[in-house]
Amino acid sequence: MRNRGEYTPLFETKNGRGNFIYRLFAISLFVSICFIWFYRFNHIIIITTNYTQEKNGGNWVWLGLFAAELWFGFYWILTQALRWNRVFRQTFKNRLSQRYEHMLPKVDIFVCTANPVIEPPIMVINTVLSVMSYDYPSEKMSVYLSDDGGSELTFYALLEASTFAKHWVPFCKRFKVEPRSPAAYFNTTLHSSSDSLSDINFANELAIVKKLYNEMERRIKDATELKRVPNEARLKHEGFSQWDSYSSPRDHGTILQILFHKKDPNNSKDVDGFILPTLVYLAREKRPQYHHNFKAGAINSLLRVSSIISNGKIILTVDCDMYSNNSESIRDALCFFMDEEKGHEIAYVQFPQNFENVTKNDLYSSALLLVSEVEFHGADGCGGPLYIGTGCFHKRESLCGMKFSDEYRHNWMNEDDLFIEANLHELEEKSKDLASCSYEENTLWGKEMGLKYGCPVEDVISGLSIQSQGWKSVYYNPPRKAFLGVAPTSLLQVLVQHKRWSEGDFQILLSKYSPAWYGFGRISFGLQMGYCAYCLWAPNCLATLYYSIIPSLYLIKGINLFPKMSNPWFIPYAYIIIGETIYSLLEFLSSGGTFKGWWNDLRIWLYKRTSSYLYAFSDTILKLFGFSDPVFTITSKVSEEEVSKRHEKEIMEFGTSSPMFTILATLAMLNLFCLVSVLKDAILRDGGFGAYEKMGLQVMLCGFLVLINLPIYQGLFLRKDSGKLPSSLAMKSTTLALALFISFRFV
Ligand SMILES: *[C@@H]1O[C@H](CO)[C@@H](O)[C@H](O)[C@H]1NC(C)=O
Ligand SMILES: *[C@@H]1O[C@H](CO)[C@@H](O)[C@H](O)[C@H]1NC(C)=O
Repeated sequence: MRNRGEYTPLFETKNGRGNFIYRLFAISLFVSICFIWFYRFNHIIIITTNYTQEKNGGNWVWLGLFAAELWFGFYWILTQALRWNRVFRQTFKNRLSQRYEHMLPKVDIFVCTANPVIEPPIMVINTVLSVMSYDYPSEKMSVYLSDDGGSELTFYALLEASTFAKHWVPFCKRFKVEPRSPAAYFNTTLHSSSDSLSDINFANELAIVKKLYNEMERRIKDATELKRVPNEARLKHEGFSQWDSYSSPRDHGTILQILFHKKDPNNSKDVDGFILPTLVYLAREKRPQYHHNFKAGAINSLLRVSSIISNGKIILTVDCDMYSNNSESIRDALCFFMDEEKGHEIAYVQFPQNFENVTKNDLYSSALLLVSEVEFHGADGCGGPLYIGTGCFHKRESLCGMKFSDEYRHNWMNEDDLFIEANLHELEEKSKDLASCSYEENTLWGKEMGLKYGCPVEDVISGLSIQSQGWKSVYYNPPRKAFLGVAPTSLLQVLVQHKRWSEGDFQILLSKYSPAWYGFGRISFGLQMGYCAYCLWAPNCLATLYYSIIPSLYLIKGINLFPKMSNPWFIPYAYIIIGETIYSLLEFLSSGGTFKGWWNDLRIWLYKRTSSYLYAFSDTILKLFGFSDPVFTITSKVSEEEVSKRHEKEIMEFGTSSPMFTILATLAMLNLFCLVSVLKDAILRDGGFGAYEKMGLQVMLCGFLVLINLPIYQGLFLRKDSGKLPSSLAMKSTTLALALFISFRFV
């Protein structure tokens, strides 16, 4: 037994390197921002009192710029909470096994899928197989697949996967293969000559499971293409009869099947005779007259169903497109929960969302590099990261609404199951009741228990509410990524995804669970700021649009809106531009990005702000007045061949007409017209470029906007492939931009 003196923690926390230097830099930047505010404010007074408004372009232009700069400064201050105190975590898994190997807690794993077309069954079962083969005692693991699409095809795929698992799980454990998603594994071994390949035994086994996998993949893909389950499979498994009364994905009874369970040992063993993890398929009841509450509703059903089937104390939620890339992740998470000194404070351990399908320079900035490599470490330093819905381990108690108490210590000893005497069939029938539509009527589910309802980003609001109950959370970002998903591979997918996120986050700010007032006094002030930085994504659109239109238009009128280069007030502007550029570049490179990736990130930053956020902002405002209903748009996770070829070559994918593209293209064209007109004047007029010296910043801003929009000009006029911008959209945006330009230039 250890005695108290030689306590060694199961994890350690280190401060980020460079935190001190960063703080100095941030303070200097803040001083410059204050100078700019002062300059703007002062100038408005001067032009108002001297009646020089006409010459200066009118008072409102300056007020608008002042407002935009106030906003940018204020928003920048909020983001400092995510950078000021970055912390990094490390776990000691060997200490965990030394102390607790024989009393590891039960873990329930929830995999969520919603649509068999967007999320193909073969992808779903690869995720299921990867989590079934975690390096963890099988009898302590249960895997639940929640199928909100209620699809026979997904059920069929899971049946196939359960047969394959009898070979796959022992194969993984015997040879310690990584990663444990079969698709990913067979993809990597193709081009890596592992030395264990020389092991004849291994080579044989590999050939066998590979063949089994390929056959299974073929059957599942065929069924998916034909949209029909083969008859012989239907006859073989009685579970399909549950679809007899099924009318549509929105109208069916509870479909639940326990595929593996220790109460059915004969059927639940792998080929080596060891018990497999419990495996359950669930499509909760859906009826048109009941709101199903999207993923939050699905997870809450799973929470109840799992509580009588396995009742694991730790719950992992993972999206069906994120396979486990590290078989030891459960142990990593347990190092936090089971740490004797700090473990009792921690409600959840969030892993980053990483992606398999991002190209080297991440054209759409879909890897969210800065969020996962910088900002979440900062949030962790303020009390804990947000819950992002996938790749997150929870304590069941805190997820179900328990308040934190410093005295309470978790009992990790495994208790016996409830309903120990019930047989499998009784267990299934009981579980079905728990997943029915009417079960939640007049209960606290969705309000104080489980995930919160009524918000498109239910995860974030649920995480916030857990933190508001006094719990801490932990961000664990190991060098070898724990979960790998599929990133969106076209511009529109990215923009739509961000519209949904920013809209949901903005709604949280306006809801009763707002981090601004609900969180007040319940979470740290820094964390409140951090949450607000995400919740205020959407309103960023106003200031950004103003900045990318007005200065360029006033440029062609020859009206100067910024200090001249010879003016001392130019210095704070220059300092911020140069300082932020260098800093953001360094930050991006040190997070593992490339120079081109940084430039792409900047472009997507601009596009999100001028299109996604604009839509999110206006939709939210409209909704406040009761105009439209929340719609949950799933971003597609499959892509055609041609599209993925362009994706690999990092050619921007437009392809369709979307109002979002019209906005982007119009802005791009407008700035192009302005820049061309200015350059033409500068060359033809006597004054030459000297006349524009005083407008240096405005010319630079306009030039930057043109430069960053190069892919749009190519998409509008130069490309011939199917991924270009449609010509009708080119016409529309050019006409719009030209009209705006002419009315400013000549009127
Ligand atoms: C993801 O990337 C891999 C390799 O780059 C490719 O084979 C696969 O088709 C891609 N998947 C999707 C859904 O884009
Ligand atoms: C995924 O795991 C493999 C080992 O199985 C590792 O080589 C690879 O680097 C991991 N991927 C990422 C993105 O960390």
